[in-house]
Amino acid sequence: MTDTRRPFVAGNWKMNGLRADGLALATSVAAATPEQADQCDVAICPPATLLATVGERLAEIGGAVALGAQDCAVAVHGAHTGDISAEMLADTGCRYVIVGHSERRVDHGETSALVHDKAQAVLRAGLIPIVCLGETEAERDQGRALAIVGEQLSGSLPNDAGSALVVAYEPVWAIGTGRTPTEDEIAEVHRHIRNEMAGVSGIDPDAIRVLYGGSVKPANATAIAAIENVDGALVGGASLKAEDFGAICQSFAEAV
Ligand code: PGA
Repeated sequence: MTDTRRPFVAGNWKMNGLRADGLALATSVAAATPEQADQCDVAICPPATLLATVGERLAEIGGAVALGAQDCAVAVHGAHTGDISAEMLADTGCRYVIVGHSERRVDHGETSALVHDKAQAVLRAGLIPIVCLGETEAERDQGRALAIVGEQLSGSLPNDAGSALVVAYEPVWAIGTGRTPTEDEIAEVHRHIRNEMAGVSGIDPDAIRVLYGGSVKPANATAIAAIENVDGALVGGASLKAEDFGAICQSFAEAV
């Protein structure tokens, strides 16, 4: 493993949190994760309405928790009502931007081509894209999980990102369901992602972190963190409880 593959745990708050509880959660996450700071990178991705406030709170605390966004637009600025550019996210203090989450691919019809352009926009703004990939349950049942993930990877990953890119494997059927793939299934897909990245020009497949996401919780984090080619986790539901999120970060920090 190279240095650039320090464990990384990101909390995806999705569409949760008003100002008061978002600030309280960010403060407790910062308090729950200090010991992991030198072994594990930690980020939280609140909804867009809370980015500035939470970013300011994290800066005040001065801890190691980074700020991430859940999506961005492709354009830099202009007549795009309701959209937020990667440059605006950078201006708010973000370091990471999730792109291509399955909830956006499904709810907003986002294609891999669009996800690719969004990832490129994130790089253009000097931020790190977290590019999500994952098969549906039907696709897995048809034995097409690797093919689907491979197609999404080659369609979504930008060229020339070096190691300034994070990939998250999130089987759609494991998100928010409490179900997870077996350790062998996770290992198989992560190995496949690592191999397929060799076909994307200008990126360093051995240096890129590949996170697992989908029902990660304190009870399964240690086992998931031990799987080969798993370099961290993208955490939804459990990231809304500082104690659970802190425990997951701890599991990944210990897996080094
Ligand atoms: P979950 O969500 O941890 O609630 O399954 C993960 C995600 O969607 O990123």
